[in-house]
Amino acid sequence: MSVNTEIKRITTNTLQEMKLRGEKISMLTSYDYSMARIVDEAGIDAILVGDSASNVMAGHETTLPITLDQMIYHASSVVRAAKRSLVVVDLPFGSYQGNSKEALNSAIRIMKESGAHAVKLEGGEEIRESIERIITAGIPVMGHLGLTPQSIYKFGTYTVRAKEEAEAEKLKKDVLVLQEAGCFAVVLEKIPAKLAAAATESVKIPTIGIGAGAACDGQVLVVHDMLGLTKGFRPRFLRQYLNLYEEISGAVKGYVADVKSSDFPSEKEQY
Ligand code: KIV
Repeated sequence: MSVNTEIKRITTNTLQEMKLRGEKISMLTSYDYSMARIVDEAGIDAILVGDSASNVMAGHETTLPITLDQMIYHASSVVRAAKRSLVVVDLPFGSYQGNSKEALNSAIRIMKESGAHAVKLEGGEEIRESIERIITAGIPVMGHLGLTPQSIYKFGTYTVRAKEEAEAEKLKKDVLVLQEAGCFAVVLEKIPAKLAAAATESVKIPTIGIGAGAACDGQVLVVHDMLGLTKGFRPRFLRQYLNLYEEISGAVKGYVADVKSSDFPSEKEQY
């Protein structure tokens, strides 16, 4: 008797079925092969190759500088590692805001050159045409509302969005627009939990929250933040599972001391 060891891939449909049966969706970012392999094998449902790579991988202050070519490089490394999870890739700033043709071309490049399974775009009504055009080409799209970091210079700060009535009303409309446009899911970032709950209730597609409370259908975090690699970044919404900054720093200090004292390499560590 042969044992079927094939791993069943999570798809955009799987996420929608999870919402239907009330099973929460887990999502984390990854940007490279080694981290994505751990995250995938540990059982995450979806991996986001976020443009937060601009911050945590490249050290930029914002997500704006990262390019389409750089996103494709990160995404193809992640795709090589992800055997089970759905891989979603951010369209970076400047690769889709111009017009819907540009948006489609950028999405096609990501899918063709990285092998990813879906793309994510920031915005609502104002990018509806682009979303529809990408979906018409057969590419699944995840939306992103609330704090959309590519608009940081319009917002001015990274504080909670949609606390005022007008912005909350626009977000409620936008989540419906994204559903109608054909998005398979939507990220809600840093908005009041009550508003996220109302938005989640209003749509059939899953909402994935980051700083948007417990009512969302799933949660996403930047993997460097939840592992404690980003020193000094402790927003209220973040649960930090490890303090890898300290762990790695301790290991490096130990290595430096061992080399300096000629303790490393030992007899057993040489040929
Ligand atoms: O780029 C990113 O990591 C994101 C998440 C914060 C949702 O968009």
